[in-house]
Amino acid sequence: MKENQSRSSFSGKLGYVLAVAGSAVGLGNIWRFPYLAAKYGGGIFLLVYLILMVTFGYALIVSETALGRMTKRSPVGAFRAFGKSAPFRIGGWINAVIPMLIVPYYSVIGGWVSKYLFEYLRGSTAALAEDSYFPNFISDGFSAEFWFLLFCLMVVAVLFGGVKQGVERVSKVMMPLLVLLAIFVAGYSMTRPGAWEGVKYFLIPNLENFSWMTVVAAMGQMFYSLSIAMGILYTYGSYIKKDVDIEKSTMQVEIFDTAIAMLAGLMIIPAVFAFSGGNPETLNAGPSLMFITIPKVFASMGFGTGAGIMFFLLVLLAAVTSAISLAESGVSTFEDQLGWSRSKATLLMGGVIIVIGSASALGFGVLDFVSVLGMTVLDFFDFLTNSLMMPVAALATCLLITRVAGLDKIAKEVEQSSDFKRKKMYFFFMKYLAPVCIAIILLSSIANVFGWITM
Ligand code: TRP
Repeated sequence: MKENQSRSSFSGKLGYVLAVAGSAVGLGNIWRFPYLAAKYGGGIFLLVYLILMVTFGYALIVSETALGRMTKRSPVGAFRAFGKSAPFRIGGWINAVIPMLIVPYYSVIGGWVSKYLFEYLRGSTAALAEDSYFPNFISDGFSAEFWFLLFCLMVVAVLFGGVKQGVERVSKVMMPLLVLLAIFVAGYSMTRPGAWEGVKYFLIPNLENFSWMTVVAAMGQMFYSLSIAMGILYTYGSYIKKDVDIEKSTMQVEIFDTAIAMLAGLMIIPAVFAFSGGNPETLNAGPSLMFITIPKVFASMGFGTGAGIMFFLLVLLAAVTSAISLAESGVSTFEDQLGWSRSKATLLMGGVIIVIGSASALGFGVLDFVSVLGMTVLDFFDFLTNSLMMPVAALATCLLITRVAGLDKIAKEVEQSSDFKRKKMYFFFMKYLAPVCIAIILLSSIANVFGWITM
């Protein structure tokens, strides 16, 4: 009897860690992390990111998971379980709306990845490595929109079909392959002549490269990469049983997610130094960095076309599975909160993706005169969600816990399955560190909007 119990609980734990890791690993790790690290100071960005992750991020993951398990609800319902007044409703909804705003521009990047996969399949390896290839592609309204729509169709089709299990199976095979390929490409990229400067830039903190925006960007990236501050972990938490050790699984997910992000950094940043001589302009390339540097790496390899196909295929799979979970969270919010049928909810989600996504896709070409607060449409939505809304969502979770639910209640929830080893630290983070971090990110983001500091 006892043995049976522990066996079933094991698969429950593993299943949970895999599901959360699956949602955590995506374009955030491979596309977003390296370009932010390149832009905001290399080693110092990495250091700030790591510190934030094991303190603030850790506390937030534990909190969201525990709240989800305690209330057995997704964010809107979880907040409502504690009260019905406006602050509770706003707290729940802001968490629930964020994924709906992320998935459109996420799909634009997914479209870029699809295009690159297609071009590698056609053998355009040398053309892709040209400096002008990427800017020409994204400013050509027709292709940018076409590839975005194609990606978006894939996502919506899966949502309609509701083939969630298939997605899980895909990601179980894909993740190990992605790790292996990433190790290989990173190893190749790091050993190119001149690449060592890049390895040093990425790994060794240099205070001279520090700016406030390093902290803001690192914090936004932490939310994004670990899928926190957007209600996702409430929902996952609501599915798990009392036997999942919340602390331990949180650590496992963080380690896995960071390992992939660092591998991606080691593929891309050394390549900037090896192939573009550490050109500051390339380091600052932003969202396009992966698409500019990775093709150069492949073009210089013996079997670069094959490597390119593999790489973009795996990134595409990671992007599709993440986009599906993001959109799924939107669909289930509509279903639960508005009482809509699945198909109606999916249609609305699809509509939101197409409208915001098209604006983001076309923002580099046909709509390039549109600039919101000095940003392209895609950058704006990225900024809005990661630097403005997620801090507010995280704040809502912190307030809910410290002011309403009570830290002790969370501690009890965690202790149902294991000792709460870092309880004192957790209390400290939630009471003091988290509010300070959130204040910093919000104030800096607002200061940036008004042009008092630049990002
Ligand atoms: N963490 C994912 C990434 O790194 C992106 C993401 C954020 C996500 N929230 C999510 C994916 C929710 C799935 C579900 O790319």
